[in-house]
Amino acid sequence: MYWAGKRVLVTGGAGHIGSALVGRLAEEGAQVRVVDNLWRGSVEYLLDQDGKPVIDLEKDFINSDLREMRNSDKAMEDIDFVFHLADVVAGITFVFDNQPFVYRSNALINSNVFESAMRQKVQGLVYVGAACAYPHEKQNDLSHPLFKEEDMYPANPESAYGWSKLMGEYECSLYSKSGMLNSAILRLHNVYGPHSDLSLERSQVIPATIRKAIRYPTERFVIWGNGKQNRSFVYVSDVVEALLLAAQKGLNKGPIQIGTDKKTTIDELADVVIEISGKDIKKEYDTTKPVGDIGRAADCSLASSTLGWKPRVSIEEGLRETYEWASSHLKSHGKI
Ligand SMILES: NC(=O)c1ccc[n+]([C@@H]2O[C@H](COP(=O)([O-])OP(=O)(O)OC[C@H]3O[C@@H](n4cnc5c(N)ncnc54)[C@H](O)[C@@H]3O)[C@@H](O)[C@H]2O)c1
Repeated sequence: MYWAGKRVLVTGGAGHIGSALVGRLAEEGAQVRVVDNLWRGSVEYLLDQDGKPVIDLEKDFINSDLREMRNSDKAMEDIDFVFHLADVVAGITFVFDNQPFVYRSNALINSNVFESAMRQKVQGLVYVGAACAYPHEKQNDLSHPLFKEEDMYPANPESAYGWSKLMGEYECSLYSKSGMLNSAILRLHNVYGPHSDLSLERSQVIPATIRKAIRYPTERFVIWGNGKQNRSFVYVSDVVEALLLAAQKGLNKGPIQIGTDKKTTIDELADVVIEISGKDIKKEYDTTKPVGDIGRAADCSLASSTLGWKPRVSIEEGLRETYEWASSHLKSHGKI
């Protein structure tokens, strides 16, 4: 097997996407190390369904802050391959209320990790960019066709988070182009699934919508904006598959989008969640809340031709899995 015996570092491996990747790499026989400062992730996400750790937590889990170069160098020791997922990610309110923090954190984390990986002479690194970095005006143009990779420029992301993710792509490609680091860049659309942040302060739209349905009527089911804004939602197991394929087939090929060509409005998403909940939920709309860009979806032909990747999990199926996880998570933490 390709990953058997390889020493793999997953930065941000206690997070939503990272923990799913760690579980899969461990199954494939890789020796996985995780570095995460638990700003948003949780060690709990590194346990399997029976509560058994998927990696040796004593030896292979490092709780440290990648904004510090020495921590990044230390995490990289003896590593063959890196999946770099650590960054400050959060819902829209947190991002807009904390733009300097988000930008500076991600700029430092990315820069340190690329440099350490180059010094360690790893075989390769996969970085993840974000589709929300696409130019603001294109994401607010309802007639804009499905996004292609080249739509990123001229650059004009809406938020500091978008800029930080784009600068990560840029810096990663500098190392790649100068032959100092073999790297792949996946530009992810909106990823959802288990192990996502359900908190009021930092949750993104799918976990927040699911939390409101589970806690209804204690928590009101309020949709931010008029619900007509849309996104291209991709389930976490499809993203894990793309990350593994990128490591083998995507090095030094430039950014590749991972998403779906289906635009799902927040209203449609809410309806599916309500149906899954089986409750009689009354939707409310708060048009004073921030909604971000109007919409985007992905033309994934490059992912298909380069990686042989396409999304497999339908939004209904993915939402059911996520709802089930969120219910038991909230219950076990005394939140319902
Ligand atoms: N979830 C999405 O919709 C989405 C979309 C596009 C791109 N991405 C990217 O995918 C990656 C993973 O995102 P996610 O959804 O799993 O988010 P997440 O917040 O669950 O994972 C990020 C992890 O990084 C850790 N982290 C943050 N600051 C750190 C620091 N200073 N040092 C060490 N660790 C730190 C967090 O604790 C967390 O566990 C991120 O780079 C994100 O930008 C995510």
